Amino acid sequence: MKMKHLLILALLNGLTLSLFAQNNADKAFAFAQHQTKLLLNETDKAKKAGTKPNLLSPRSLTPNGDLIIVAPKDWCSGFFAGNLWFLYEYTGDKYWKEQSTPYTIAMETEKIDSGTHDMGFKVYNSVGNAYRLTHDQQYKAVILQSAKTLITRFNPVIGCLKSWDNRKEWKFPVIIDNMMNLELLFEATKLSGDSSFYKTAVTHANTTMKNHFRDNYSSYHVIDYDPETGRVLHKQTHQGFSDSSSWARGQAWGLYGYTMCYRETGNKIYLQQAENIAGFIFSNPAMPADLVPYWDYDAAKLPGQPRDASAAAIAASALYELSTYSKNGDLYKTMADRILNSLGRSYQARPDSARGFLLLHSTGHKPAKSEIDVPIVYADYYYLEALLRQKRLANKKAVINVAGSLKN
Ligand code: GLY
Repeated sequence: MKMKHLLILALLNGLTLSLFAQNNADKAFAFAQHQTKLLLNETDKAKKAGTKPNLLSPRSLTPNGDLIIVAPKDWCSGFFAGNLWFLYEYTGDKYWKEQSTPYTIAMETEKIDSGTHDMGFKVYNSVGNAYRLTHDQQYKAVILQSAKTLITRFNPVIGCLKSWDNRKEWKFPVIIDNMMNLELLFEATKLSGDSSFYKTAVTHANTTMKNHFRDNYSSYHVIDYDPETGRVLHKQTHQGFSDSSSWARGQAWGLYGYTMCYRETGNKIYLQQAENIAGFIFSNPAMPADLVPYWDYDAAKLPGQPRDASAAAIAASALYELSTYSKNGDLYKTMADRILNSLGRSYQARPDSARGFLLLHSTGHKPAKSEIDVPIVYADYYYLEALLRQKRLANKKAVINVAGSLKN
């Protein structure tokens, strides 16, 4: 469907949806509080029953419905603490702060792990939210140390942070997901006054814009670089259907990442990039009517393919922010409302099921046969973030709660 047609559809639906949005978030957060109490219990039970030490937070379910708990080292370890902080932010109820604190403190060990690019996912989504809402100086120190550790992965010849280590297929792989880790670096400059974090983030975003994107603004997943010369060696889509395909979550990471880069820099190039990515996603003929994509846009035509609710939740959260910067703001906000409407209506778990996760039907890594059509913690994270943003906009507040006020 062309952008023009989407605009007409969006405007027709707009009025109904904005009325719906007023109480959508309240209902979804009531459900989220109920479910998360269950997930806290299930996590405690699984930790007590398990043999591995150091397991911290819930990540997903096995195909049999067993809970997968991960250690702080896992890239998904910080999302659950983030979910608990979002519940605190929405409700103002100290119970949620008490629940989030131990999950957040346990993430501190990660601040010196220089073997990962996922520092933002791990530390910013947990400790970053904690600092935003409490202003506790301990959290600030963790954020700064984490940013220092992350920039050790920057190669100035390439102009990027390295994503994965010790993978024999690649010399210097950079994945589109890495755009999400830049938010930690922008924050570190604001907290410290040291511009080197900001400069690293901007250089990474610019190199990614140059090499990750195709002419239609879809992105590859992995670009492999020669670390000596900075030359691009390969362009691949490791977590997608094929190298030339558009992996749904990767497109959502790009949309979120460039929207955030525009917020942090004011550089219109990033705004335009985010708008172009949104154009690719929402004009895509493979996008289902409910705006929850199949796991890869190019696999959608094959029978029996799973959806990826996480990609939809990430895109919804990004679109609310983008709607406040763009001349197409009404369209983006309506799209985001439609996504949340779909997620709330057809993708939420039944209360007391799914061991307490919120959303069903996410797909983690289909080619690796891992986490296919299951609840995954990052889908819940971006769902809650999108709901918070929806409610803030309905209340005529700034979309991002930078000051950490608990009043929505
Ligand atoms: N590496 C993050 C993802 O699977 O989207």
